[in-house]
Amino acid sequence: MAKLDLNKLPKHIGIIIDGNGRWAIKRGLPRFVGHDVGFDTLIKILKYAFELGIDTISVFCFSTENWNRPKVEVEHLMQLFRKAFTKDFEELYKYDAKLYVSGDYSKFPEDIAKKIEESLEKTKNFKSHKLNLCLNYGSHDEIIRAVNNIIKDDLKQVDATIFNNYLYSKDLPPLDFIIRSSGECRLSNFMLWQAAYSEFYFEKTPWPAYTKRKLNKALLSYQNRERRFGAIKDKK
Ligand code: IPE
Ligand code: MG
Repeated sequence: MAKLDLNKLPKHIGIIIDGNGRWAIKRGLPRFVGHDVGFDTLIKILKYAFELGIDTISVFCFSTENWNRPKVEVEHLMQLFRKAFTKDFEELYKYDAKLYVSGDYSKFPEDIAKKIEESLEKTKNFKSHKLNLCLNYGSHDEIIRAVNNIIKDDLKQVDATIFNNYLYSKDLPPLDFIIRSSGECRLSNFMLWQAAYSEFYFEKTPWPAYTKRKLNKALLSYQNRERRFGAIKDKK
């Protein structure tokens, strides 16, 4: 495989985790097994991405629409978050990644919300990377919340910089590259504003089977793209 240019990595990548359920069902397993394996995959991929030197990673973990899933599945996901914020994410602390959360996590069970607060506090001075977990997140929700806060603050006019400051992601760079697993080619309400100039990569593999090698392949594809941001290459 061609070699990655570590000086040309995307600064901010977004990961849309998808295909956990289908991966499990295909193996005759209950959907929740897909979430369990998918969670281990996430930790493995985050570590690898930080090791490569990716600055910021946003992960779509739980959407505002995921509450509509069967109660047992939602509860299982909550249990995974409970475990993650109690123990598993600590493994990531050594990568010096500051945690950010996009979404209204106060709607999560109280003990989990409290653990999230503790993790935010513990990592608040970490400097090497940024890890943004989207929890009870939806882009429409984020944008409407921003507009309502702008109204509350009595602003009569905003520009893109001011508007950006009202988003959960205000301290993060814009997305450069979004990877979605499991073959679906859509954004599903993930960071619409932040994705304005992002490149996209749709991977057929379901998330639990995702590998470091697949991430390498995606990053190589990114490095072969020409980003023009609406301009043209040769200004002459
Ligand atoms: C993504 O996998 C995990 C979450 C949304 C939490 P899915 O659960 O959407 O898996 P499929 O798409 O049903 O296979
Ligand atoms: Mg899905």
